[in-house]
Amino acid sequence: MAKYLERDKKYLWHPFTQMKDWMGAPQVVIAEGRGEILTDVAGKKYIDGVSSLWCNVHGHRNKKIDAAVKRQIDAIAHSTMLGLTHVKAIELAERLIGIAPRGLTRVFYSDSGAESTEIALKMAFQYWQHRGGEHVKKTRFVALTNAYHGDTIGAVSVGGIDLFHSIFRPLLFSAYFAPAPYCYRCPLGKDRATCKRECLKELEELLEAHAAEIAAMIIEPLVQGAGGMIMAPRGYLAEVRRLCTKYNVLMIADEVAMGFGRTGRMFACEHEGVAPDFLCLAKGITGGYLPLAATLATEEVFDRFLGAPGDHKTFFHGHTYTGNPLACAAALAGLDVFEEEKVLENLQPKIARLSGHLERFRGLDNVGDARQCGMVGAIELVADRESGERFPEEKQVGVGVCLEARRRGLLIRPLGDTIVIFPPLCISNENLDKMMNIIYDSVCEVCGD
Ligand SMILES: Cc1ncc(COP(=O)(O)O)c(C=O)c1O
Repeated sequence: MAKYLERDKKYLWHPFTQMKDWMGAPQVVIAEGRGEILTDVAGKKYIDGVSSLWCNVHGHRNKKIDAAVKRQIDAIAHSTMLGLTHVKAIELAERLIGIAPRGLTRVFYSDSGAESTEIALKMAFQYWQHRGGEHVKKTRFVALTNAYHGDTIGAVSVGGIDLFHSIFRPLLFSAYFAPAPYCYRCPLGKDRATCKRECLKELEELLEAHAAEIAAMIIEPLVQGAGGMIMAPRGYLAEVRRLCTKYNVLMIADEVAMGFGRTGRMFACEHEGVAPDFLCLAKGITGGYLPLAATLATEEVFDRFLGAPGDHKTFFHGHTYTGNPLACAAALAGLDVFEEEKVLENLQPKIARLSGHLERFRGLDNVGDARQCGMVGAIELVADRESGERFPEEKQVGVGVCLEARRRGLLIRPLGDTIVIFPPLCISNENLDKMMNIIYDSVCEVCGD
């Protein structure tokens, strides 16, 4: 381990990581993985409770995905999508359209979640420019507080997490923000018992006042991930769709984190019968194997980009590795696994099992809220359960719990003091139980519950 870490600490700069802390602490070097288990270079095994940052779906070294990628290596590793196409990109686009919410008919590939949202924002903007007339004034965006859509400048502009985003404000375009449906810590100070969905009222007022200048609203359906696994009440998403239609604003559904089964359905939008104008996909699209993203759009949007060269209606955006064949082959195999192994049907008892575990946490003194959506769980730790008062930041309670869990053989990452439960969908009941017991014991150990 030491021979790797010495070089890691000498040469690497890790994402979303305070490198001073990183360099001063012991770290884990992963050597291999199988199913939901990761093994470090010293041979210690861990449950991958974070799905390798919310992307692993069917487990590591999945036989079908491994074989598909190997087969594709023997055909071709990369070929461009600019002015050329290839077999796997075509096959995957057809499959994605086949499972996407109704009305989405076109697939634009890229390589990461941030790119998929950046592309949707640019497409929405350009769409209204092509519509012409009064519509050219529709140049602005609506997002939610606590939103996270990636780290490129456009995606950060519609990001609502001050800790990550505020330093960059001078670089960003300004967006409108409506209050997040964060019921545990309602930004409007309401509580669940007396809530009259005032947050939606604020959204509607914003849309009504500014519809003439708003191109699109971007939203993470059902769960705002990086904002703290904030889960919207039932009906919220459908209402957002209704308001977007009413005020002639395009709807961008960012399912980068929740797509591909995480919520218990293939896409989160399905829970409320919502058909967005754009659907952003990444992470789980390849089962967590290779970088690939897709922005799905409607034919109405696509048609507005058609024209003669002199019309300048082309969408001038693309990346070198866009639609990479190895990644597309992994994605196709991942979709086969969903179908052949009835992953979503088999997931339902596991979702119920996770609910049972979360119930136990609700009795702990330092658990303010324990929430769940499908195979995502979030345990919000607080200093005082009655008032919801947070722990002081310097106590780093969430980090402490995750370090304790690591010692006990589980890899998870907190969001502040919210402990995130996000295992691969393939996790066995035995390892799900083990994971939840480790988290329980770690919370008790660190919080003294
Ligand atoms: C909802 C959402 N959108 C976009 C992204 C950005 O994806 P990527 O890290 O692949 O750029 C993330 C990443 O966590 C996400 O959760």
